[in-house]
Amino acid sequence: MKNWTYTQRAVATGTAGLLALTLSACGGGSEASGDGASGGGDDVISVGFSQVGAESGWRAANTKSIQESLTEENGFALSFSDAQQKQENQIQAIRSYIAQDVDVIAFSPVVESGWDAVLEEAKAADIPVILTDRAVDSEDETLYESFIGSDFVAEGERAGEWVAENLGDQELNVVELQGTTGAAPAIDRKAGFESAIEGNENIEIIASQTGNFTRSEGRQVMEGFLQAHDDIDLLFAHNDDMGLGAIEAIEAAGLTPGEDIKIVTIDAVKDGMQALADGKINYIVECNPLLGPDLAEITKKVVAGEEVEKRIVVEDQAFDQAAAAEALPTREY
Ligand code: AHR
Repeated sequence: MKNWTYTQRAVATGTAGLLALTLSACGGGSEASGDGASGGGDDVISVGFSQVGAESGWRAANTKSIQESLTEENGFALSFSDAQQKQENQIQAIRSYIAQDVDVIAFSPVVESGWDAVLEEAKAADIPVILTDRAVDSEDETLYESFIGSDFVAEGERAGEWVAENLGDQELNVVELQGTTGAAPAIDRKAGFESAIEGNENIEIIASQTGNFTRSEGRQVMEGFLQAHDDIDLLFAHNDDMGLGAIEAIEAAGLTPGEDIKIVTIDAVKDGMQALADGKINYIVECNPLLGPDLAEITKKVVAGEEVEKRIVVEDQAFDQAAAAEALPTREY
């Protein structure tokens, strides 16, 4: 479907009528390409998507949502790659999508920094970029069209507010399992949580370390916390998977998760919600992974030259144990 240039589209933003005329006058054959690309009809939009990895239940649900939304029946030829949590793999995938001359590149950046060079290459090739889930810290916002995802600072704040309101009237030693170092959700959730507990002198973060958003590293790091501290009251884990790994470590140490050590996590995927309903976790702030439908809609608009919102914030909820038990039977992910 690529029959206009990125620069033409950028200039035409806000003048949809004129652009529609330009597009229909161009006619044009599709250049859908890439491993997953097929179809190749006039209306097929080729999209190269670089995923962070397969580190968590959240990520699995997010990948499913994207693959089920950017389908051939829906007018897309999707090339999908898994970066295995490595920025260099994502940069390589993006360069390969540029070489394939896809219509749109979308990706969820494993870390926030270090994207300007490759995004400038995409811009020079007139290929629009859409960010999903995680942000980049580029100062030049013309390097991408739109960023669809949750407000991670708000998620951390919500977790911290619950802790301060429900447990902050007594001394509380907190350990924190951070997400991947340098990733937007790790940076923002930490900042949000800290700002919500700031000023409450009862609450102290006594240890904080990355568990890389995975269950195995969550377990490993929690084992270390338990060896170093015999006075942990609460665990704040930046995602459910690390919290679930930590539960294994807590149980192996002969303690009862949710009672001896209270647990607050973020994501609200099924396994986390089950542990919450079972009383092993105390509170979960949701991070909605179902970004596929929004990505499909925004991609179509970008290709049609329509103006799109630079930032699309996804709505999240939060669950205590009773709410989790109620939500579980109809939970989608
Ligand atoms: O970027 C979203 C985060 O990445 C999710 O909270 C976490 O589970 C995932 O790995």
